[in-house]
Amino acid sequence: MKLPARATICEVGTRDGFQIEPDFIPTELKVEVVDLLSNAGVPRIEVTSFVHPKVVPQLRDAEAVMAKIRRRPGVRYAALVPNDKGAVRAVDAGVNAIHTVVSASESHNLANVNMTIAESMEKLRAVMQVAARAKVAVSCGISTSFGCPFEGDVPLDQLESVVGRLVDMGARAIGLADTTGMANPRQVARVCEHLMPRFPSIEWTLHTHDTRAMAIPNILAAMECGVTNLDGSIGGLGGCPFAPGASGNVCSEDLVHCLHAMGIETGIDLDRLVATSRRVQEIIGRALPGQIVKAGKSTRRYPLPDTVAARRPAARA
Ligand code: COA
Ligand code: ZN
Repeated sequence: MKLPARATICEVGTRDGFQIEPDFIPTELKVEVVDLLSNAGVPRIEVTSFVHPKVVPQLRDAEAVMAKIRRRPGVRYAALVPNDKGAVRAVDAGVNAIHTVVSASESHNLANVNMTIAESMEKLRAVMQVAARAKVAVSCGISTSFGCPFEGDVPLDQLESVVGRLVDMGARAIGLADTTGMANPRQVARVCEHLMPRFPSIEWTLHTHDTRAMAIPNILAAMECGVTNLDGSIGGLGGCPFAPGASGNVCSEDLVHCLHAMGIETGIDLDRLVATSRRVQEIIGRALPGQIVKAGKSTRRYPLPDTVAARRPAARA
């Protein structure tokens, strides 16, 4: 396999995950999780979103969370915004990066942000202006890039048209999001092979959901095409409240374990990440889908049962 030597993980659990939790997670616990993540060496964190507080009440404390986190130098603290109102709030709260959202399918865009794709594009143009004035980086996410839970297949030319419009208005980073886990590895490769040479200056991110257990295979397919920016969520939290059937993102610690096992650097301390995942399970009061928390790392060893040890030929002196 041709894989890059390094990957950059963006942790989205406190946004994509906490937005869909049935109970409001108190601000200080959200802050604790963000600080644990930065202490584990996570380089990018999508902390929260600046959306309508009635639409996503779980994240209505976005300003307070941003104000209380301990800023670790070098970490990029981002937030998701759908429009210029959100961008102004995010900039005022001191984000280092804005992650925008628009869908590749009209139905999901309407369900998610109550706008047509064309209306979203106008809002995103205004977001770019707010971000440029504030000298804040922008990464443009595209939901339902690989399929829509309402419309089914999303034709590649439709996705390409959304990418093209974002690039025309100045996007330099684009995230392809598999919102409800519909993508498969061959499809991911086909989409990446098509788009990446056509938009060679773009920094690409893959945002996966493990709804159908294809997130890591999809990530590997994208990495073989040269994608090095990957979203993940601690414990495998996550899901879009406006996409039926959505479930958690690829689990960050499982992904980091996989990458490290293959010799791909992330700069993340996996033990601390696993400890953070345990703490998140405690906070939300239930087990999460992550496997490494249960199984331990592949370097884990067990004592040989006595009966077996007795039969093993003695080690040579
Ligand atoms: N933050 C806070 N308030 C906002 C806002 C934002 N980013 N954007 C709009 N509003 C307010 C407006 O000020 C207005 O307030 P008012 O009624 O007091 O005047 C009100 O919301 C309606 O504005 P409008 O532009 O008509 O918004 P809408 O009702 O059509 O909702 C969104 C559009 C985008 C704000 C809303 O659908 C939303 O927040 N969606 C986010 C979905 C999401 O987070 N999905 C998961 C992530 S992929
Ligand atoms: Zn998502």
